[in-house]
Amino acid sequence: KTISVIGVPMDLGQGRRGVDMGPYSIRYAGLKERIQRLGYNVHDQGNVNVPQAESHDIHDQKLKYLPEVTRVSEDLAEKVATVIAQDHFPIILGGDHSIAIGSIAGITQKHKKLGVIWFDAHADFNTEDTTPSGNIHGMPLACCLGVGHETLVNVAGFAPKIAPENVVIVGARSIDPEERNLLKKHGIKVFDMHEIDKLGIHRVMEESIRIAGEGTDGIHLSLDLDSIDPDMAPGVGTPVLGGVTYREGHFAMELLYQSGKVVSCDVVEVNPILDEHNKTARTAVDLVCSLLGEAVM
Ligand code: ARG
Ligand code: MN
Ligand code: MN
Ligand code: MN
Repeated sequence: KTISVIGVPMDLGQGRRGVDMGPYSIRYAGLKERIQRLGYNVHDQGNVNVPQAESHDIHDQKLKYLPEVTRVSEDLAEKVATVIAQDHFPIILGGDHSIAIGSIAGITQKHKKLGVIWFDAHADFNTEDTTPSGNIHGMPLACCLGVGHETLVNVAGFAPKIAPENVVIVGARSIDPEERNLLKKHGIKVFDMHEIDKLGIHRVMEESIRIAGEGTDGIHLSLDLDSIDPDMAPGVGTPVLGGVTYREGHFAMELLYQSGKVVSCDVVEVNPILDEHNKTARTAVDLVCSLLGEAVM
């Protein structure tokens, strides 16, 4: 099996500098070598080109850097579609979570009925009408469901990419009031931290794999490192206390591997400037290895 790594040094979707160095820090943490050791071929496809924030103006305070984010999303969608047509397993390295608009637009060109597990402290289900920040990284999941600004929704020329009944959010603990209304309106299943405490990560993941995996062509994991508790993932732009533990994270990834249904993943929001000795990137690499079958026995 061949893995394709695609870097997206995107920081235009959020307000804090440094997340554009996510792809570098995850590679530096040994991603390629670690995956090769599991027996995979790894092709690093390099990075998608992302404009510098300093050379562009924020035209719209409710959709910051909309033209630039749209352009990168189109480019990424094309790159992802190319590798997935070759039957590679794409790992897309962010960058902020706005990159999921492009990655999911690429994957769904082959896997038309895609299930998505959105592993995140946030729901990323805002639109230009509900956003408290104007940051597009708070909107990608809604965009993939056809909810939001038309240029983002129509990346790669079609919409929606995914259906609400095949989408599940795991690890949420920070959702904006109007965003919550939108999630309810569209019937999105959310396993928040309360549900993880109550049911345990095992049941939550079994249910999530059923929602995203039953009757679909595969599962895309969109892994925001701020899902993990800040003790093991401090290097993120929007940290929230009380997250998924290191061990729960690994167990979740192991169950996803065992399901045999995962076809692609994003690894996003790693910010080395806010990190402690690249700890968050190392956590990210560890989790990806569990997703790809690294286990003790
Ligand atoms: N809900 C907040 C917003 O819309 C925070 C979003 C955080 N998203 C993320 N991908 N870390 O701005
Ligand atoms: Mn511009
Ligand atoms: Mn996110
Ligand atoms: Mn998040």
